[in-house]
Amino acid sequence: MRVFTTRKMPRAGIDLLEAEGHTVTQWQENRELTEAELIAHSKETDGILLSGRRKVDTAFLEACSHLKVISLFSVGYDNVDVAAATKYKIPIGHTPDVLSKATAETAFLLMIATARKTFYHHKRIAKGEWDFFDPTAGLGQDLHGKTLGILGLGNIGFEMAKYCKNAYGMDVIYHNRGNNEQAEKELGAKKVSFDELLAQSDVLSVHANLTNELKGIFNTGAFGKMKRNAIFINTARGGIHNEEDLTRALENGTIWGAGLDVTNPEPMDKNNALLDMPNVSVLPHIGSATKETRDAMAALAAVNLIAGLKGEKLPKCVNP
Ligand code: DGY
Repeated sequence: MRVFTTRKMPRAGIDLLEAEGHTVTQWQENRELTEAELIAHSKETDGILLSGRRKVDTAFLEACSHLKVISLFSVGYDNVDVAAATKYKIPIGHTPDVLSKATAETAFLLMIATARKTFYHHKRIAKGEWDFFDPTAGLGQDLHGKTLGILGLGNIGFEMAKYCKNAYGMDVIYHNRGNNEQAEKELGAKKVSFDELLAQSDVLSVHANLTNELKGIFNTGAFGKMKRNAIFINTARGGIHNEEDLTRALENGTIWGAGLDVTNPEPMDKNNALLDMPNVSVLPHIGSATKETRDAMAALAAVNLIAGLKGEKLPKCVNP
């Protein structure tokens, strides 16, 4: 059968598809396809491997209701109307688990980079500002023994909590719909209300899916309830924080710092005020960007596609 990929994909996935006899066409340009281009290519294919932010909504599904499967190259599926896809009987695959460690590592690195103003010091050297040793300037803050708060303690949040507990002996609190018994048992993690999470966290790291309920939940009101020394980390989705409110909270000293792998919008404008703040670290949505992880994601996305093309249940399916 025919498969279309919306990005150039790692061979690890393409090889699996071709070994099954499928014909793979890959979008070759280094830009997001337009909606019209996506529909045009999808009409000519049986399954798509979708990477990027294009929406899978009713309009798209209606135009491409012949698709046997849509396989996402991501764990997040906030760009997909899952209920509508289910109505059209189109299974949606995604890539959880295989990227948990790499993404948690990105949150961990943003936490340390922010606490120690790493990017700011790097920029100082590049600007020729490494002059003399000043014992009072450019200071960060310790992480040892501090409290890590996690919003959304799933697989990625759990890996982040383990890194922080093992490296810094941090206390772990979390806010989630359900209870994470494994984290409670292994890490002594404590479930708290959202307001308690805001009030008690020294580092607050977001690992939740973007839902309507969470859209913009980190706003002026929320930042106002956080500690003044708090570091806000977001490696999940930029839509979960209000970027203007975050900028103001950092400018006013309402919170101490922020580490972002996701922004709102993406890509971030190069003149964004956050990029000039010493207590802010920003990365261009590279949470899962290691060779090993991207290969594993491509392989899982291919396995989902192969199952869908056969009319079988996808190993990692987001439809209920
Ligand atoms: C994911 O897997 O959801 C990443 O954020 C890429 O979109």
